[in-house]
Amino acid sequence: MPRLQDKTCVVTGAASGIGLAIARQFHAEGAQVILTDCDTAAGSAAAAAIGCRFAALDVRDEGDWAALATQAPVIDVLVNNAGVTGFEHGAVAHDPEHASLADWRAVHAVNLDGTFLGCRYAIGAMKAQGRGSIINISSRSGLVGIPFAAAYAASKAAVRNHTKSVALYCAQAGWQIRCNSIHPGAILTPLWEPMLGTGPDRDARMRALVADTPLKRFGTPEEVAALAVMLASDEATYVTGAEFNIDGGLLAGSAATPG
Ligand SMILES: NC(=O)c1ccc[n+]([C@@H]2O[C@H](COP(=O)([O-])OP(=O)(O)OC[C@H]3O[C@@H](n4cnc5c(N)ncnc54)[C@H](O)[C@@H]3O)[C@@H](O)[C@H]2O)c1
Repeated sequence: MPRLQDKTCVVTGAASGIGLAIARQFHAEGAQVILTDCDTAAGSAAAAAIGCRFAALDVRDEGDWAALATQAPVIDVLVNNAGVTGFEHGAVAHDPEHASLADWRAVHAVNLDGTFLGCRYAIGAMKAQGRGSIINISSRSGLVGIPFAAAYAASKAAVRNHTKSVALYCAQAGWQIRCNSIHPGAILTPLWEPMLGTGPDRDARMRALVADTPLKRFGTPEEVAALAVMLASDEATYVTGAEFNIDGGLLAGSAATPG
């Protein structure tokens, strides 16, 4: 039997990369998927290719969440996946000394405010049935400092912590509404394109980016989606407030291992 049979699942930022792979795998496991994104052209094309519903949703926008609550008042699973690094429109200072307040806030608006609004919507859409699964896509960067992507790292650390607040709040209310975070390392998606470029040194840059990763390669969106399927399914009904690293072993030890 498919692992997500008859579950209604919303995925944010699902026009591309990890969110798209999650939407595909959820659909393949029998879920009724609502694929959402702020990029309506790419999102509706992706949903049509999968054969699922599309809803335009900018995760920063309370009005968009209210509209989704009208369209989908009861759901089983929400994946808060939409996220930005702050480098989407070119090189920007994101270190703690030179980052502008506007750039800092722009990253937090998507990664943190978007996740807060998503969790709030999901609790409202799950509490009547008293169960559900909220999956927040944080990052390996939410567990360590990243000097040149400080807003990204801080926002993902806050997502990790908010996940635990949501998990405890729901448990204390007596609901079987679970909330967990996934912490990917380097996963090859369009998010990396501004850093990889298209020049002759692209392959060398790719190798350098995963040189400290024990498995010596990028992960794939499908590998992250497999973990999301497990957390969404009834195989994980005792898992809440937990964090899952999927990083090729990067956080298992120190890159500065002697010898
Ligand atoms: N790729 C990695 O190496 C990696 C590592 C750790 C964590 N992550 C996290 O995984 C998630 C997905 O990343 P990805 O690599 O698939 O990126 P991606 O750039 O391929 O996809 C991101 C998607 O989010 C959408 N989006 C951006 N802003 C939005 C908004 N305001 N509202 C709704 N949708 C919005 C984009 O349109 C896009 O479709 C992000 O939260 C990212 O931080 C990625």
